[in-house]
Amino acid sequence: MSQYPNINSPSEEVIKKACDALLAGKLVSFPTETVYGLGADATNDKAVAGIFEAKGRPSFNPLIVHVPSLEIAETLVEFDELARKVAEKFWPGPLTLVLPRKKECPISELASAGLPTLAIRVPANQLARDLLTSSNLPVAAPSANPSGQLSPTMAEHVAKGLGDKVTVILDGGACGVGLESTVAAVHDGRITILRPGAITEADFSGLTANPVAQATEESDIVSPGMLLSHYAPSCPVRLNATSVNKGETFVGFGPGFNDIEESNLSPSSDLREAAANLFKTLHRLDEENAQSIAIAPIPETGLGIAINDRLKRAAAPRG
Ligand code: TXA
Ligand code: MG
Repeated sequence: MSQYPNINSPSEEVIKKACDALLAGKLVSFPTETVYGLGADATNDKAVAGIFEAKGRPSFNPLIVHVPSLEIAETLVEFDELARKVAEKFWPGPLTLVLPRKKECPISELASAGLPTLAIRVPANQLARDLLTSSNLPVAAPSANPSGQLSPTMAEHVAKGLGDKVTVILDGGACGVGLESTVAAVHDGRITILRPGAITEADFSGLTANPVAQATEESDIVSPGMLLSHYAPSCPVRLNATSVNKGETFVGFGPGFNDIEESNLSPSSDLREAAANLFKTLHRLDEENAQSIAIAPIPETGLGIAINDRLKRAAAPRG
């Protein structure tokens, strides 16, 4: 018997419990062949916000979405010929592909941090596969550690780091690879490695005549529309606004702005709700051709830190 009440040895009943937790918007930790993931229903904005909250991440890095098969991945993102070849060769396995979201992709925009691309992978671990198949949900999952700490390779690491923030921890013993998946973008017949991992440049040889590019730092990626650039609306954004200027669209937070706001990230000042609404709201205003956006102050605590980080980037002068 484990000293941690949320660690569960696998059984059909436990998988069912984990599926129910995911469906209820709760967090479930599961083993993959790389490291333990901290999973939530990737189609549920609030559940995805809960991942960032539990990890205490100071910024909204986009997350990896886990699915049981290439067939299901094809319903969410666009595969070109090379991407399909790569997926067929390495899935299930420790490779994440960054591909364009489909137009009607139901995955939370928070999971891809507002980007037009989505990181997706088919894990090989049997427990992970059981969870994905039984729940019939795409599962967004970063490594299941508090921000800044080591990635967990044992159920106990997860329990120690995240405690009761995780409803169910599926105990699959030690992870085989122990290192996060390789993240690669595939576009225009080229493969770019965004994060090194168990699958290396040499493993890709023969799949394309083009050289494999390496981008280990975000700053290495410069080409326009490329993968790690941050999402920002196309119009100017003004922060900490308490009144609205002519021509601005006002986005509130909390009560008290009803007379001027066109949108409110969370009328009840709930930071998780605000995180869940952030990218959706900015995208919608962009589509409505807002000329200028003014946003109410967001408290710099908990998830507010990551929200403000994104808003500051959105408000920064564009080069
Ligand atoms: O092995 C793994 O990949 C583990 C297990 C749980 O699957 N997950 C994991 O997730 O390491 P995370 O969130 O810690 O790392 C996700 C990586 C980050 O480097 C992130 O920047 C990148 O994937 N990423 C996610 N979406 C992206 C996107 N749309 N464009 C570029 N990079 C993206
Ligand atoms: Mg991580």
